[in-house]
Amino acid sequence: MNCAKNAPLSPKLSLNLGLQLRNTFGIAGIAERAYEITAAEQIPPLMQEITQNQWPWRVLGGGSNVILPPVLSGATLLMNIDGEKVTHEDSESTYLEVGAGVNWHAFVQWTLDQQLPGLENLALIPGTVGAAPIQNIGAYGVEVAQYIDRIIAFDTTSNQFVTLTNAACEFAYRDSIFKRQPGRFIVTQVVFKLPKAWQARLHYADLQAMSANLTTAKDIFAAVCDIRTKKLPNPQVIGNAGSFFQNPLVSNQQYQSLLSTHPNLVSYPDKAGHRKLAAGWLIDQCGLKGHRLGEVGVYEKQALVIVNHGHGTAADILALAKLIQDSVQERFGVTLEIEPNIL
Ligand code: EPU
Repeated sequence: MNCAKNAPLSPKLSLNLGLQLRNTFGIAGIAERAYEITAAEQIPPLMQEITQNQWPWRVLGGGSNVILPPVLSGATLLMNIDGEKVTHEDSESTYLEVGAGVNWHAFVQWTLDQQLPGLENLALIPGTVGAAPIQNIGAYGVEVAQYIDRIIAFDTTSNQFVTLTNAACEFAYRDSIFKRQPGRFIVTQVVFKLPKAWQARLHYADLQAMSANLTTAKDIFAAVCDIRTKKLPNPQVIGNAGSFFQNPLVSNQQYQSLLSTHPNLVSYPDKAGHRKLAAGWLIDQCGLKGHRLGEVGVYEKQALVIVNHGHGTAADILALAKLIQDSVQERFGVTLEIEPNIL
């Protein structure tokens, strides 16, 4: 295990810590007991204390995919384990071990500075390295699971550190074992495997349109940053958690029936017998782009994103989410699943 040198065994504790600046939605939640985890070895004794006191608990990474309640009772583990290093290489790949608390975008930038391409399509995704595998972050035709070799985590059921191979993580679209078994694993390090044979992935429409000017991984990185900056709201300016709903998967039968009534339906091929629909398009068709409900609203340039105009709470966000879900259900008969974790 790669523990930070000289890290104290007891993590720093803050009582009643305001989390407004630690979640990208900008929700003013308060953590009763916030522990700053800077080394993996701090976790076992802390989990023992949490169990003894029967405190509820959760982990907060970059706070970019969560909806916080007004008060987080019990213990909140602020994941700050840092460090990124090349551990070894073979003829085909380079292996990197990275602390769960490292900022995702800074890490992608660092790999490119080390001449290690592969992650460029995932530039500018908010959050941390440790959070990336939980929902298997993806963008512009790439999912992080394609580059994860294994994950080191504390397993709270066996009370020991475990290594999960890529297959054991059960990755799927915006899904993994970490999401399906919430509260079981605390990810401390992610080991990436970057193939030496690099190939540009430009099949996603927005990149394809610019492909003539995209020769190197750094070109693609810059293009993805540019597209995201134009399409998605910057959480430092207006609170949001990126895509608020997953793109829903429907049967081919339902797809064909929808297509007959909505010839402009936006969809993508997926697993056999199914089709993935663009949730943003469905919401947009309901006329909800820019729709405001009190302190929160649908982003005016991307209907898949809910934004916090200032003082929005989890209840406000979930009320708007319900309105959107009901509208899409009524008009298209399609169920939208909320993407961020509701804490
Ligand atoms: N669309 C509309 N109206 C809208 C929004 C979208 O008509 O208001 C249409 C677009 O024109 C496009 C289609 O819907 O034809 C898809 O939109 P877009 O290309 O913006 O991608 P997305 O499906 O909305 C997904 C990911 C994003 C990722 C992008 C790029 C999910 C839930 N979201 O969004 O991920 O950045 O593709 O790969 O899969 C995130 O998870 O937080 C996230 C931002």
